[in-house]
Amino acid sequence: MRAPIRRLSTLIVAAGLHGSPAFAADPDHGADLAKRWCASCHVVASEQKQASADVPGFAAIARRPDFTPEKLAFFLLDPHPKMPNFPLSRIEAGDIAAYIGSLHQ
Ligand code: HEC
Repeated sequence: MRAPIRRLSTLIVAAGLHGSPAFAADPDHGADLAKRWCASCHVVASEQKQASADVPGFAAIARRPDFTPEKLAFFLLDPHPKMPNFPLSRIEAGDIAAYIGSLHQ
C-alpha cells in the first residue's frame, strides 16, 4: 500500500528539482549530513582516510559521466537494496546531491 505513494512523491520531488534552474540547495549542509550519515561506508571528503572497501567514494561518484545532482537526489529518495534507508527529506537529499556535485572540480 505504501510503495506507490512513496513512488509518486519521489516523482513529484524529481519534477520539482528539475524545474529549478538554480537548484537552490545548500552544499555545506549537505557536507554535514554526508559526514554524519554516509561516512561510515563512503569516503565523503578528501581528508577522510577510512571507509568500507568496495563502496564508491563521493568524488568518484561525482566524476561519473552520467552524474547529475537531480539524479542523485532521486536515487537518495528511492529505497536502495545495499544501503540503509535514510529518512531524508527532499531538501536534505538535494543538499547532499549538491555537495557531491561540488566535489566534481
Ligand atoms: C551501510 C553502508 C552505507 C552507508 C551508510 C551509505 N552507503 Fe551509499 N552505498 C553503499 C554501498 C555498499 C554502495 C554500492 C551499491 C552497489 O554497488 O550497488 C553504495 C552506493 C552509493 C551510491 C552510488 C550508487 C551507484 O549508482 O553506484 C551513492 C550515490 C550513494 N551510495 C550515496 C550515499 C549517501 C548520500 C549516503 C548517506 C546519506 C550513503 N550512500 C550511505 C553503502 C552505504
